Amino acid sequence: GSGGGSGGGVIHATASEAVLTAMVAARARASVGAPVGAEFTAYASSQAHSSVVKAGMVAGLGREGVRAVPVDASLAMDPAALSRMIDDDQRAGRRPFFVCATVGTTSTGAVDPLGPIGEVCARHRTWLHVDAAYAGAACVCPEFRAMISGVEQADSFNFNPHKWLLTNFDCSLFWTRDRAALVDALSITPAYLRNAASDAGAVIDYRDWQIPLGRRFRALKLWFVLRHYGAEGLRAHIRESVRLAEVFEALVRADARFEVPVPRSLSLVCFRYRGPEGDAGDEANRALVKALNDSGAMLITPTVVPVGPGAVDRVVLRMAIGGPFTREEHVRAAWGRIQEAAAAAVRTS
Ligand SMILES: Cc1ncc(COP(=O)(O)O)c(C=O)c1O
Repeated sequence: GSGGGSGGGVIHATASEAVLTAMVAARARASVGAPVGAEFTAYASSQAHSSVVKAGMVAGLGREGVRAVPVDASLAMDPAALSRMIDDDQRAGRRPFFVCATVGTTSTGAVDPLGPIGEVCARHRTWLHVDAAYAGAACVCPEFRAMISGVEQADSFNFNPHKWLLTNFDCSLFWTRDRAALVDALSITPAYLRNAASDAGAVIDYRDWQIPLGRRFRALKLWFVLRHYGAEGLRAHIRESVRLAEVFEALVRADARFEVPVPRSLSLVCFRYRGPEGDAGDEANRALVKALNDSGAMLITPTVVPVGPGAVDRVVLRMAIGGPFTREEHVRAAWGRIQEAAAAAVRTS
């Protein structure tokens, strides 16, 4: 709620809107006292979701206004590199104002280190937005909360119950520490929206916290999910997804023709087909994805990420588990299909 403190939350439709509104609020805050025409720059890791760059495009920073910060071997943002990039931009007369850290990247579930990133943001007076669109759901379990350690320094935080918390699209929870920055950036009151309650400050006008005026009653379905499952039910769902991902990971690791090139993250397992000789390339992996998806038995979304000692871009397959009806037998059956499809691909190549 937005009761006592200076923060508050609102339910957006998507994480894309959340990062855009955070960016606009951050820029409004940073504009106070900034020279006219200052070039505002934002930062997110090279593994951040495309919605951050899109927010920059919509907000008028342009694609180039959102810098891609290098990542380490685990594909998490390198805070030292972030600090250097911000310093360089400041020296060049630009105004760094916004950093988006990702907890659970789309491709591999990598977790940017919020503690060190928050320190860089504090030093440079930039807004820290945390995009936990997928992985945020895992925070219902105490044992997974270490991944957001340092979140106290965030200016805004977002996660999507519509991804992994059993809620129908759309439902994206957005919280900000500084609701005044958001409202200052987005409020506009034409005559037809004026009313006594708003003028008296007796109500919260959520239109000032988001892009659209109209609002769906998204809280209702989330309330039903919370009531139906309860905290323990939600925890059980998350824990079972993670357990099934562990089962899948073990199956992949036990087959020498496959590899797990980046660590499993929660319920996401990234894997690659190496082939019997260990030399199967990206084309073989793309063919494998096509065969599996064409079969209709599963849907695998591939991605391309830098892996291995040389950080070479490679196609990897993503097994993402999180449906309430997924059982261990389904995961084992899926793995059987993957093995068969891989063997068939070798026979026909
Ligand atoms: C880390 C991350 N951020 C943002 C998004 C975008 O989510 P939305 O569709 O809610 O805008 C995704 C979607 O895959 C994501 O994985």
